Amino acid sequence: MGRPEHIAIIMDGNGRWARQNGLPRFAGHQEGVMTVRRIVQECSRLQIKYLTLYAFSSENWHRPEQEVKALMGLLDTYLTNEIPLLQKNNIRLNVIGDLKRLPEQLRHKVLDKLKQTENNTDMVLTLALSYGARDEIVRAARSVCAEIVTRGLEPKDIDESMLANHLDTVNMPDPDILIRTSGEQRVSNFLLWQIAYSELFFCSCFWPEFSIEHLAAVLQEYQNRCRRFGRVSNEIFPQ
Ligand code: IPE
Ligand code: IPE
Ligand code: MG
Repeated sequence: MGRPEHIAIIMDGNGRWARQNGLPRFAGHQEGVMTVRRIVQECSRLQIKYLTLYAFSSENWHRPEQEVKALMGLLDTYLTNEIPLLQKNNIRLNVIGDLKRLPEQLRHKVLDKLKQTENNTDMVLTLALSYGARDEIVRAARSVCAEIVTRGLEPKDIDESMLANHLDTVNMPDPDILIRTSGEQRVSNFLLWQIAYSELFFCSCFWPEFSIEHLAAVLQEYQNRCRRFGRVSNEIFPQ
């Protein structure tokens, strides 16, 4: 199997890592940012074209106000500090999710950073912010309906590619690999449409501990998997 084009990651376990080390949850999130830096750099070195990171879910808004504030603050700092690294590595920043729910100042900052990196071409780093796949599909359904009305189309004209074109991930290939850290084996409302045929990897380490060696192990195992997409193997790999 060739190199994956798109890796998506559910970065989980910051809180448990902090507790295990006798630290406040916030320290776990801070340490998690160091892992983001490490993995972005490594994926860029490996010439991965798309890296998508689940940073804040639509359900995470239900966390205590103090934690939500701390996470928004961390995102703000990340956007200030990491842009030079993205520029240096020719990485374009992208976001998916319902940005309307972000604090206004932060939303403007995100949009500003998207603009600053829009001409970079080696890799696309997508942050899923205030993202939930069901919410994304509902927003897509609304916008498909609007298109149907304005173009005078009928329900039977809707096909998979039309719906995909209204998702936040328009113009992105589906993930080849989905990784979740922290030992949980669930997808927690992440990219439900797009992971239809992704290879899933569950790592027991917490996100702050996730290293380039863990990533290398995933990539190694990916090479040994046989993706059939519903077909039989010898159609894909003729003998
Ligand atoms: C992942 O770590 C970060 C976010 C969801 C924002 P958690 O905060 O979920 O850490 P655990 O799962 O409580 O250990
Ligand atoms: C998923 O982690 C969301 C992110 C990593 C941003 P959660 O910690 O929110 O997921 P659950 O609640 O354990 O399913
Ligand atoms: Mg969690």
